[in-house]
Amino acid sequence: MDPDRESSLEHRGAGDATPQPPPRAGDRPAAVPPRPSSGGTAGRPPAARVPRETRLDSYVDRYATRTHGMAASEIRALFSVASRPEVVSLAGGMPNISGLPLDVVGDLVHTLVLGHGGHAMQYSSGQGEPRLREQICEVMRLEGVEAHPDDVVVTVGSQQAVDLVTRLFCDPGDVVLCEAPSYVGALGVFRAYECEVVHVEMDDDGLRPDALRQALQAIADAGRRAKFLYTIPNYHNPAGVSLSTPRRAEVLEICREADLLVLEDNPYGLLGFTDEPFRALRADDPERVLYLGSFSKTFAPGLRVGWAVAPHAVREKLVLAQESATLCPPTFSQAVVSAYLAGHDWRGQIKAFREMYRERRDAMLESLEDLMPPGTTWTVPQGGFYVWLTLPEGLDAKAMLPRAVTERVAFVPGTAFYADGFGSQCMRLSYCHPTPERIREGVRRLAAVIEQEMQLRETFGAGRASLPTYDTPNPDLT
Ligand SMILES: Cc1ncc(COP(=O)(O)O)c(C=O)c1O
Repeated sequence: MDPDRESSLEHRGAGDATPQPPPRAGDRPAAVPPRPSSGGTAGRPPAARVPRETRLDSYVDRYATRTHGMAASEIRALFSVASRPEVVSLAGGMPNISGLPLDVVGDLVHTLVLGHGGHAMQYSSGQGEPRLREQICEVMRLEGVEAHPDDVVVTVGSQQAVDLVTRLFCDPGDVVLCEAPSYVGALGVFRAYECEVVHVEMDDDGLRPDALRQALQAIADAGRRAKFLYTIPNYHNPAGVSLSTPRRAEVLEICREADLLVLEDNPYGLLGFTDEPFRALRADDPERVLYLGSFSKTFAPGLRVGWAVAPHAVREKLVLAQESATLCPPTFSQAVVSAYLAGHDWRGQIKAFREMYRERRDAMLESLEDLMPPGTTWTVPQGGFYVWLTLPEGLDAKAMLPRAVTERVAFVPGTAFYADGFGSQCMRLSYCHPTPERIREGVRRLAAVIEQEMQLRETFGAGRASLPTYDTPNPDLT
């Protein structure tokens, strides 16, 4: 465990400057004090008059307010159909680990368990294994980040890092800035902590600095303050675009002016199709940027190893949050990643992944070019897993999904990536998993569905606009 842990128990919440006397045995209150009224029950369904035993969920009147914001995706049921082999799924964002040398991983796990099982099977540091943290610094150097292993906190995937950071910074109602669209898993976290998401427009060069300025101004005009900007600068999920180099400096400058913390989520940064990776935002402003990384896309998502690199004071809080969430990140997974990085050509493996994904990206772009009806547009990713497609005027991706699944092709409707119901004319297409041939077939089916929808629209006029949806992440959506 982190030696800082004991002493930092003295830290209290920001703004709580009142010295508290140590509790004495007789201090325990006689009854549970009432909840402060600001805690509220807004959004909570009224206690039902239906007898508890006949309710579908007999705990419905006991959940915390935030729990009522958690809803399963409306499109989840469709995804269970979409996972059938006859359906070409352009929906799932799961990394394609078919190229991983499983024999190498098997051998290293064998050696690890026999040689160091006593350690690998044990609890360990809440901050993460020191050797792995050193190796993480080496990985990040490829993107210009110079960090000390002490600044790194290992997490259960970068998903947990998003959760811990939000837990540290956000009270219910706090404003978080996100790109429009944004990663569904992060939106799920922000919703769980009852944050208010303000989306900031992007274009082909990523986040638009003018839109960021406008959003900050509007927040300030409302007498409020954003807690952080959550951004995916490289090979964006779901938009497929990257923040251009000149914009990186501009976005950082705006954040500096507004004294805004930046949460840089970068799981795809090393999966670019050009030679040099982008320079991380953190590389140019380590005091303002909290960086999140992951081995899910460059090694294996099943190990659930990610990390956060934070300004020093935040790093200490992150370790405390990590300890209260999990005690420590999984020692075994960390040991596997560490042994893999030490004993295997991981750079060569990343190169192999990049080539595999580039071939699939090319197959998707070529078939979109060949087959999509006029009026359809899409982004051209230079890395990562995703293309963001905009349908011809008036078409609704979510309304189209059941028909597409019937025609044996699946995608994720754009509304899943907005907190405010926008995105109905868009969809995310993933090229990471299917073979190039299957991608072509999937795009052919999708193009036919879009054409049918256009004809229907011509014949019967506009359909109903889709309602806002709030999708919780699942492996198909990541
Ligand atoms: C942008 C982004 N952030 C975070 C994650 C979570 O990754 P991890 O497996 O490291 O938790 C994903 C997964 O798809 C992602 O796309």
